[in-house]
Amino acid sequence: MLGVEGLSISFGGLAALSALSFEVAEREIFALIGPNGAGKSTVFNVVTGLYRPSAGRVRFRGQDLLRLPPHRIARRGIARTFQNTEVFRQLSALDNVLIGRHAHLRGGLVRGALGLPSVWREEAGARAVARALLERVGLAEVAGVEAGSLPLGSQKRLEIARALAAEPRLLLLDEPAGGLNPTETQAVMELIRRLRDEGGLTVLVVEHDMELVMGISDRVLVLNYGRRIASGSPREIAADPAVIEAYLGSEEA
Ligand SMILES: Nc1ncnc2c1ncn2[C@@H]1O[C@H](COP(=O)(O)OP(=O)(O)OP(=O)(O)O)[C@@H](O)[C@H]1O
Ligand SMILES: [Mg+2]
Repeated sequence: MLGVEGLSISFGGLAALSALSFEVAEREIFALIGPNGAGKSTVFNVVTGLYRPSAGRVRFRGQDLLRLPPHRIARRGIARTFQNTEVFRQLSALDNVLIGRHAHLRGGLVRGALGLPSVWREEAGARAVARALLERVGLAEVAGVEAGSLPLGSQKRLEIARALAAEPRLLLLDEPAGGLNPTETQAVMELIRRLRDEGGLTVLVVEHDMELVMGISDRVLVLNYGRRIASGSPREIAADPAVIEAYLGSEEA
């Protein structure tokens, strides 16, 4: 589904990623973990076309992505959420999902937000799809509620619904449980699992919450200073000395 090969990128002399390679199979839940600044979000930014690497390749379903602008990558079937929750706070949950759909059809989240025509807004088909997506993430009851007034756990799931509106095959989730309490984290875990099991999605997830990572991932890749230090099943990773060292090291710092 996704193939990353020899990816390198630097910011002002600092190597954020160094010759990173990995592959994600169809319908896999693949976790990318590592200490703060390890390069996890940078991987997402390269794959979605926001950053251009200095070396390496990214292939999605056999096709090269690197020369494509972000909206064309999105249209190929890759959607993402961001590390910092970014719902449109004053819009209803339903309108947040409609914007995701609009961005998918027209390209560009900002353009989608600014140019939302009232005619289209009333379009019954789009609203039905958006409602179905809210239902899928467990937010049907709050469709009309201002997104900014929802608890963080619901906002995180709303962001996922908005990403799903683009009808992706590959979903990139950057810290979907960031800042959530254990109950909310559990709901997000179940949602991710269902998206794969019932929706057939492939999921690449960045997360610090080890319960989520160990609980839902098929495979885990551990980054430190932009390099892979380990990869394998959750069980293999948990027992890996290099991983334990990287995490203890980062806690001491
Ligand atoms: N646009 C940018 N400009 C300058 N430096 C950047 C930029 N994006 C990332 N970096 C740097 O690249 C390194 C990796 O950052 P990245 O955001 O990928 O880390 P991360 O693994 O997602 O960390 P966290 O767990 O804190 O989110 C960091 O040193 C960061 O400061
Ligand atoms: Mg990050």
